[in-house]
Amino acid sequence: MARRVLRHRLMVRLTHWTNALAIIILLMTGLNIFGAHPRLYWGNAGSVDQRERVWLETGASPPWRNPNGWIEIAGTRFDTTGVIGVSRTPTGGINFVAFPHWATLPAMRDLATARTWHFFAAWVLILNGLAWLLHGFISGRLWREILPSRRQLAPAHLWHDIVEHAKLNFPKGEAALSYEVLQRLAYAGVALVLIPIVILTGLAMSPGMDAAWPFLDQLWGGRQSARSAHFLAMSGIAGFLVLHLVLVVLSGPIRQIGAMITGRMTIAGDK
Ligand code: HEM
Repeated sequence: MARRVLRHRLMVRLTHWTNALAIIILLMTGLNIFGAHPRLYWGNAGSVDQRERVWLETGASPPWRNPNGWIEIAGTRFDTTGVIGVSRTPTGGINFVAFPHWATLPAMRDLATARTWHFFAAWVLILNGLAWLLHGFISGRLWREILPSRRQLAPAHLWHDIVEHAKLNFPKGEAALSYEVLQRLAYAGVALVLIPIVILTGLAMSPGMDAAWPFLDQLWGGRQSARSAHFLAMSGIAGFLVLHLVLVVLSGPIRQIGAMITGRMTIAGDK
């Protein structure tokens, strides 16, 4: 018989949605900030005349009536006209910015506002993340529900979960009440690796922190390396978000999102 059960506790729901909102604001304001200097370097310093240190750059090239947008990564240039380097303004004009208006916050170039929102959302992310971590430690949920168990990490079990995902066979009944190994690896990777890297590299770039503890950016190999690591970890989080949303949609969005909002889920009972 079908049963209605508690799937996500209030603390998990509150921290999940606060985290989602903070990350979306951070991603969109971060893309706006990147547009102020759309180049990434390794080392301590970076400027337009230090081309040998650039590993990623976006830009535009002629004809200027119908310009081409591009992104260059490690010396290889990709045409990204319409999205990166050159896009359309909301009124149809040509916009020479790294990322289009629909991907940034604020929509138009505004470094000062983007930074203010970025730093506010960063503190929300940090405090919310600490609350999630503390709750995970105290309740034991971190080990029970987020970190994969030894049994789940066995190659045969991992392979089985990969095949089930490829066949779009998602857990049903009692099994739907806890995360399988790939889901745990993705959640642990984003919450315990990528988000901490984004926070630490962000703090390393903050002028106040840098002045107080100059070793912070040296931990990453210099200020520009910290900025590059910040961008790479952010790209990993954005990749996770796309995959996360695709899987939520494929595994039953109303049921899954409903459970993350109300906490309750209906499962087909095994007993
Ligand atoms: C924006 C960045 C997001 C991040 C970093 C993120 C991360 C996570 C994490 C770490 C979990 C596990 C939570 C826990 O058990 O403590 C989770 C679960 C979940 N998330 Fe997200 N999430 C994001 C956005 C979203 C969005 C926009 C949606 C839906 C519209 C969503 C829907 C869900 C659902 C339904 C679950 C539960 C999945 C299940 O029970 O199988 N998430 N997310």
